[in-house]
Order: sequence, then structure tokens, then C-alpha cells
Amino acid sequence: PQQCDLTGWWKNDLGSRMQVFKVENDGTFSGEYHTAVSSAMKPIQPSPLVGSQHLDEDGQCTFGFTVNWKKFSDSTAVFVGQCFNGGDGKEVLHTSWLLREKVDAESNDWKATRTGRNTFARMG
Ligand code: BTN
Repeated sequence: PQQCDLTGWWKNDLGSRMQVFKVENDGTFSGEYHTAVSSAMKPIQPSPLVGSQHLDEDGQCTFGFTVNWKKFSDSTAVFVGQCFNGGDGKEVLHTSWLLREKVDAESNDWKATRTGRNTFARMG
């Protein structure tokens, strides 16, 4: 589609899945993130996400969202990205993320942030 509506299910290159419940008229949205990987000790659980997207009609909007892994981890992740329509017309999200781990002392601050990139495709 020309529009870039993040509503629905997405899967990334790690096998993680996320569901965006509904994008509001002002571009804000909430959803649930099911990560396939974790560096935490506790078993993985679905985690709430909140975000905001531009509502450009060219299907190439930028967006950002935060995931709070509170059910199994002290960490917080933020993602920023942009929607594209691939050559095959399939929607793809190219994102970059920062994952902030909780450290026990300020002297460990230097090692507390990981970064990476994920590509999401629409499921189903
Ligand atoms: C943690 O390890 O403390 C919580 C889970 C973090 C999962 C990360 S967020 C960035 C990357 N992309 C994913 O889909 N999962 C990992």
C-alpha cells in the first residue's frame, strides 16, 4: 500500500514479532513485542511498546517506539525506523535500536548500551 500504517503483525530478521494494535489519528501507537532473543536471566515474555509515526501518504514514513521489558528484564529498548515498499511491493521496516541495560554502578555506564539494526516484514 502507499500508506504506511504500522498497525498489524511484523517479524524481524531475528525471528522477533511485534503487534501494533492501532495507530491513532495523531500517529501515536501501542503494541506488544515478542522478542526471540534476550540477554536476561528470566524467561522471555511479551512486552509493551509505545511509539509514534509520521502520517505521510507516500508510504515511507519514519517512526520510533520504546519497548519496556519489565516482565523479565531491567533493560529498555528504543527503535527508530522507516517504512519502505520493496521492489515486490512488500512493506519492509528498516530500523536501528539502542538497548539500555541496567548496571549496578555509574562506573559501569560505559558498557550499558548496545546498538544494532533490524529489518521487519509484515506477517501473513
Ligand atoms: C533483554 O535482553 O534485556 C531484553 C530483550 C532485548 C531484545 C533485543 S531489543 C533489540 C534486539 N531486537 C530484537 O528483536 N530483540 C533484541
